[in-house]
Amino acid sequence: MSSDSGSAARNPDAGDTAPVALAARNLVAGYGDVAVVHGVDIDVAGGRVTAVVGPNGAGKSTLLKAILGIARVMGGQILLEGQDVTGRGLEQLARRGVGYVPQVDDVFDSMRVSENLAMGGYLLDKRTRAERFEQVLDIFPDLRGKLRRYVGSMSGGERKMTALARALMLEPSVLILDEPTAGLSPALTSTVLQEQVRVLADRGNAMLLVEQKAHAALEMSDWAYVMIGGQVAKSARAAEVLADPAMGELFLGGRARLPDDAKPPDDAKPPDDSQLPDDSQLPNGSEVSS
Ligand SMILES: Nc1ncnc2c1ncn2[C@@H]1O[C@H](COP(=O)(O)OP(=O)(O)O)[C@@H](O)[C@H]1O
Ligand SMILES: [Mg+2]
Repeated sequence: MSSDSGSAARNPDAGDTAPVALAARNLVAGYGDVAVVHGVDIDVAGGRVTAVVGPNGAGKSTLLKAILGIARVMGGQILLEGQDVTGRGLEQLARRGVGYVPQVDDVFDSMRVSENLAMGGYLLDKRTRAERFEQVLDIFPDLRGKLRRYVGSMSGGERKMTALARALMLEPSVLILDEPTAGLSPALTSTVLQEQVRVLADRGNAMLLVEQKAHAALEMSDWAYVMIGGQVAKSARAAEVLADPAMGELFLGGRARLPDDAKPPDDAKPPDDSQLPDDSQLPNGSEVSS
């Protein structure tokens, strides 16, 4: 298979020569027959936080899901250490060093912290799991005193730490995070980004971070992709994106202007939201015609 990204630098001019761990090449992806990601290229390097920012509905989560084999890949390639892993499922990718922390359902509320970590190590034998457990607690020592707590009783920041720790049980080299600060206060947002996500990158992990909170994310990221309407509208050092006045609208959560024709329809919805209502929910007089 082609391995054109194996040792590529993302932007030699900018002095960023870290080896690429994970890459998407001309990725087209979506659901059913509908593409929502239209030919995206990204590089994610070890020891770096790579952020994908952009307005709601831009296709950021779909990009992650396509990489992870959850959304449908319709074209292009996913490369892991230069090897084609397009369409591999979560478990195969987990075995090859890719960890994923979804936006929701990233931990089991009804289980203790220790049990969540053990679940994260499900692919490991007992002894390795115990070793890894200790290593993960060395990375996040705050969890040591909370091992018996039920996750449902913890703060958002503690929960996210548990979710990251759980993902770390398999010693991933690449960690993919979908909006880790969703629902968190500004203080907890900065705690999670600086003391959890950044710390893991500084330990050598390749961190791919999707964030709605673009400003907070760009402040601690190395590289940024601005995604609009399923395409990469800008790819640059995070600091450069942060300083770009044209990006201000995005940071405020406003609708982006570029490219005009690539904006997803306002009424595009995941199928779970658009399933037929049951009869009791139909307005009076409505009928499902046959
Ligand atoms: N499971 C799904 N089935 C069909 N369409 C979906 C599904 N999930 C998301 N979409 C649509 O794909 C587009 C991009 O969504 P998403 O990737 O979640 O954007 P973002 O994460 O940037 O907010 C939106 O129009 C959304 O409605
Ligand atoms: Mg999303």
